[in-house]
Amino acid sequence: MTADQLEEQRQRLTAAGQAQALRWWDELDSSGRARLAAQTSRIDLEQLGRLVREWQATQSQLPTDSAAGAEPDSRGSRDSPGSRAARAQPPSDLVRLPQNEAEQAAAAEAWQAGEELLRAGRVAGVLVAGGQGTRLRFDRPKGMYPIGPVSGATLFQLLAEQMLARSRRYEVAIPWLIMTSDATHEETVAYFAEQKNFGLEDSQIHFFRQGNMPAVDDREGRLLLSEKDSLCLSPNGHGGILSALADSGLMTLLAEQGIDFLHYHQVDNPTAVLCDPALLGWHVLRESEMTTKVAARRSGMERMGVVADVDGQTQIIEYSDMPREAATRTDEAGRLLLWAGNMAIHVLSRTFLERLLSQPDALPLHVAHKAVEHLDDAGNCVVPAGPNALKFERFIFDALPQARRALVVEVDRAAEFNPVKNCEGTDTPAESQAGMLQLHRRWLEEAGARVAKTARVEISPLFALDAAETRQRVEPGTSIAEDCRL
Ligand code: UD1
Repeated sequence: MTADQLEEQRQRLTAAGQAQALRWWDELDSSGRARLAAQTSRIDLEQLGRLVREWQATQSQLPTDSAAGAEPDSRGSRDSPGSRAARAQPPSDLVRLPQNEAEQAAAAEAWQAGEELLRAGRVAGVLVAGGQGTRLRFDRPKGMYPIGPVSGATLFQLLAEQMLARSRRYEVAIPWLIMTSDATHEETVAYFAEQKNFGLEDSQIHFFRQGNMPAVDDREGRLLLSEKDSLCLSPNGHGGILSALADSGLMTLLAEQGIDFLHYHQVDNPTAVLCDPALLGWHVLRESEMTTKVAARRSGMERMGVVADVDGQTQIIEYSDMPREAATRTDEAGRLLLWAGNMAIHVLSRTFLERLLSQPDALPLHVAHKAVEHLDDAGNCVVPAGPNALKFERFIFDALPQARRALVVEVDRAAEFNPVKNCEGTDTPAESQAGMLQLHRRWLEEAGARVAKTARVEISPLFALDAAETRQRVEPGTSIAEDCRL
């Protein structure tokens, strides 16, 4: 950055009332100045100011007795999640779990259509792994968490083995795009290198890094500093994937390689079916632009995003934005009305992503009120006791209402949703492992094997990807008496 450019940054910040970000400018050496100026130059100061004002306005309107988590967002009251939640209905463009022979035949047809896409090399897997295991009290990239109930294999290993097994099945090196953040990038890349990509080809894996957003104080909207030469920055949410795919050149690569569909998944669910032929098949057969997988929510207050139709549009309302009344509403039979839970598994058409990328700010920014450590005016580190700052994130699922056609597909929760999120309470490692063991036991018993009650049996994706493959690999009558990984 030239001296003129640095000066331009200084003027821009001063004009926006953000001169405090340069409080220590005169003390900084040239690399510190360049670092800070590079960070500030990426910020849309006008947008930031608007978001803060909108958030503050919604706060002053907030009724004092509103349910926890029902804060309006920054986009006006009718569009606030709370108001949308009140108008929400269960999704109507929906494929439910097959109940009869005709529906089973339709599901088999979808599966076949998806297999054809995979075989033709038209699909890539996309993993979002920018988050850290904070809620697990794990201070490394979450994908490095050991979760295999017998093997201790990490989340990354189980997911990578599944990509490898599926690549072998369809005789094509399915590209796997792995999004990291500043917090997870180096360690993740080093871990894959050390593990020799778990057998995947180098050319198959593409790491790309998501961007950041600055945090601001909640009263004045002023940029906070973590160091004298650095802003408080945090990852810009998994919706940051859009610009990160474009900036890394991966959108171009996908087009060049004839990849038309992206199968998106998170790092935290070891039984997620990656590059799922059924989901891909439904996506093409129903000419959908974005297809999302759902499982029945266990209860109204479960921490799972709600997939619903609002004013005829399919969308996802995040659990933290759901007022209790809407989240727990029941139908005449007493069943949860908004039953469909977001599993965070989507298929997106590449052309749809390209369209989103052609619009400025296609995905809105969500505002979160959080506690953020920062330097005070004297340069001392402040550790706030409660929320003091606003953070900003984009969510990939906000693309859903923008799809010309969006589709929702229900799957068996026990088989496909065993996420690892918290060190205690629900969605714990122990719960996830119990889910995996139960699933694999079911596959083996369906194949005619006898598994001792006390035996803990884990199936590697490289042994079998599903119940059907387990039937091919296991002789009926096989007896398993001890813990093992097949
Ligand atoms: C998420 C969904 C929720 C869904 C649940 C299913 C959101 C906002 N919520 O909740 O609707 O029901 O999963 O398991 O997505 N990530 C990044 N970069 C970021 C932020 C997150 O890559 O900047 C990745 C994380 O590594 C993780 C995933 O996104 O793989 C989910 O993030 P997290 O914040 O843990 O969402 P949940 O609260 O679990």
